[in-house]
Amino acid sequence: AIRGPVLGLEASCDETAAALLAPDGTILAEAVRSQLAEHTPFGGVVPEIAARAHLAHLPALAAQVMREAGVSPADLGGVAATAGPGLIGGLIVGASFGKGMAIAHNLPFLAVNHLEGHALTARLPGLVEDGVAFPYLLLLLSGGHCQCVAVEGLGQYRRLGSTLDDAVGEAFDKSAKLMGLPWPGGPALEKLAASGDPKRFPLPRPMLGRPGCDFSFSGLKTAVAQSIPKLENEQDRADLAAAFQRVVAAVLADRARNALAMLPGATAMVVAGGVAANQGVRAALRAEAEAAGLPLIAPPIRLCTDNAVMIAWAGIERLRAGWTDPLDHAPRPRWPL
Ligand code: KG4
Ligand code: ZN
Repeated sequence: AIRGPVLGLEASCDETAAALLAPDGTILAEAVRSQLAEHTPFGGVVPEIAARAHLAHLPALAAQVMREAGVSPADLGGVAATAGPGLIGGLIVGASFGKGMAIAHNLPFLAVNHLEGHALTARLPGLVEDGVAFPYLLLLLSGGHCQCVAVEGLGQYRRLGSTLDDAVGEAFDKSAKLMGLPWPGGPALEKLAASGDPKRFPLPRPMLGRPGCDFSFSGLKTAVAQSIPKLENEQDRADLAAAFQRVVAAVLADRARNALAMLPGATAMVVAGGVAANQGVRAALRAEAEAAGLPLIAPPIRLCTDNAVMIAWAGIERLRAGWTDPLDHAPRPRWPL
């Protein structure tokens, strides 16, 4: 049995996060600090700046969640830290901090794969009645990852397809930048698309109708770039944004349909990652799931984007299975599921 709350730590990209979960998965406290302000002047995440900001803020966030929950380090049942994949500087900060706590207070340490955190979020108690049962299809749609994953059991993940070039969030960000929108472009592009006519600009629909569930977005980005000189006013820009978003939603739905066919017995379609916040994308995926007689499970946005609740929860699932990691576990910038 897990002897106390589990502390989760996340520092693999540009959010610093800590969370405290009871052994049954109840969220006792959670905190996220975005580094948007640090990276915005550079139009993207700068690894060295990210690592230093994690170092500056992670200890205070961890102390904050423990204070809020009234839990002292000695009462913890374990410490789970993201150990990959991601930017190595931040991974070292998070994993080392977690190991330090584990050594100081004699706690089990868990080196969690960030993607496993996203994959298991849908099983958090309270999110879906009785939790989502294995196997299910996970669509991981973020700025760094774009994959269809068969989640068949704890530690049993099978990648069904992934992107051949850009991740879908990257496609949003690059296209938004071409349209003159601020970084990160996804949310700004969605807002602009709301007042646009998606039919005005014909754009290619990469991979649509092809077998399998791989993705490709670089051709779409090129087509957006070629349309930019035709833009004369705000309405034109909105029309292009709407066209882009509709194509992406259609492509994702097409890929998701094939992925579901590759996982007979799936109990649900689950989405995670920042792009899962997009309402057009959600609607297209929901229609696809429902056509297959399955629910679409989209965690609340704060649990779709990077957070430490998912890391603590993956740690709890692993602790329940009796798994822990050695203190000499090395963080891995590349770590496929
Ligand atoms: O999961 P996430 O917060 O971080 C990682 O990449 O791990 O995802 C961020 C990505 C960015 O590319 C951002 O532009 C995109 O998710 N995104 C969106 C929306 N909100 C965030 N893309 C489309 N529509 C949105 N509403
Ligand atoms: Zn992520």
